[in-house]
Amino acid sequence: MLNWDEFESKEKTTLVKPSSEASQEKEIISPPEPETTALQVTLNSNKIGSRLDKAKEAIKTFDAQIGEEALAGSASRINVDQKAMINCRADVNQLVPFKYEWAWQKYLDGSANHWMPQEVNMTADIALWKSEEGLSDDERKIIMRSLGFFSTADSLVANNLVLSVYKHLTNPECRQYLLRQSLEEAIHTHAYQYVIQSLGMDEAELFNMYREVPSVARKASWALAYTQELDNPNFKTGTVEEDKKLLRNLIAFYCVLEGIFFYCGFTQILSMGRRNKMTGTSEQFQYILRDESMHLNFGIDVINQIKLENPHLWDEEMQEQAASMILQGMQLEIEYARDTMPRGVLGMNANMMEEYLNYIGNRRLIQIGLAEEFPNAENPFPWMSEIMDLRKEKNFFETRVTEYQTGGALSWD
Ligand SMILES: [Fe+2]
Ligand SMILES: [Fe+2]
Repeated sequence: MLNWDEFESKEKTTLVKPSSEASQEKEIISPPEPETTALQVTLNSNKIGSRLDKAKEAIKTFDAQIGEEALAGSASRINVDQKAMINCRADVNQLVPFKYEWAWQKYLDGSANHWMPQEVNMTADIALWKSEEGLSDDERKIIMRSLGFFSTADSLVANNLVLSVYKHLTNPECRQYLLRQSLEEAIHTHAYQYVIQSLGMDEAELFNMYREVPSVARKASWALAYTQELDNPNFKTGTVEEDKKLLRNLIAFYCVLEGIFFYCGFTQILSMGRRNKMTGTSEQFQYILRDESMHLNFGIDVINQIKLENPHLWDEEMQEQAASMILQGMQLEIEYARDTMPRGVLGMNANMMEEYLNYIGNRRLIQIGLAEEFPNAENPFPWMSEIMDLRKEKNFFETRVTEYQTGGALSWD
């Protein structure tokens, strides 16, 4: 196969005849007549008129049977009772009537809070990152690790959504939100890339941390195992065992990856912003955290709704597995905290982060109906809850342009 270098050198030698005299004008020679390919023969024989005639003929006689059979499977107008989270046979293309209002509302809320990474001013961060002073080695390590982990973690989430989850959640309200979430994950990956590029960091080093740095790689590979459980193209839900696999995937990604693995890095970067350091990066992380807390809430609602509609899946074995997954995720995040904070930094240390993760772990367990594991755990970083608190969302975007939020109220008069 011709590679790009060969192509370039071939093109140059064809178009420009090299001269032995440096001062002599280059002689441009015509490229040779291209060889006639089989495709060109076909295209040439299809004159414009006959192409249109053929299209008209094709549309009169096309075999509609395949599409009609697909529509026949859901031929009637559906009512809400026919909708189901998984294994639903009602038409997945009919968004209304709504059954899962909470999913639709989250789609609206997410859309109202649209943002883009380029809106955040990175000037102060660039100056601070490039200066000799202002950031300690420990602070630099935290920034590097956070960008290394998150730059690929959001791709793992997006891939899992699009390649594994979307197909198996069989109601259009949830799918509508999944499409919104997928866009947000793309924006998050964009934000990390934007910070990495703005600061002039080694892109290869950052984007390969999820394979090369153990505390990052172990989190990524733990989550990827649950994507792979659904990765087989022949995988489909419908049996208890397969439905449980989907449930495990949702718990792994929503409760653990987005619900635990993000918390150490987010806390560290936001703490930096509170100390007036890397404020642009911190602002990007605030917007992302806001999106993430909605992803988490959506995931919890999805998991609980599937449990409600399929109580046989939530047996003792499954509950035990779910609790174990949350505790495993917590342990990996504590490992990450110890790796990124070998000593106290930014008013926190690994032991405080462990307590915070115990508190977060308790919350995840309770949110999906399991008993808490650490009755005495308290939140050592109450300011994190304030940032995430959705009741404050109206103030969250006070400092930025608000065109996106008013989009729904545009007047055409
Ligand atoms: Fe994300
Ligand atoms: Fe997310």
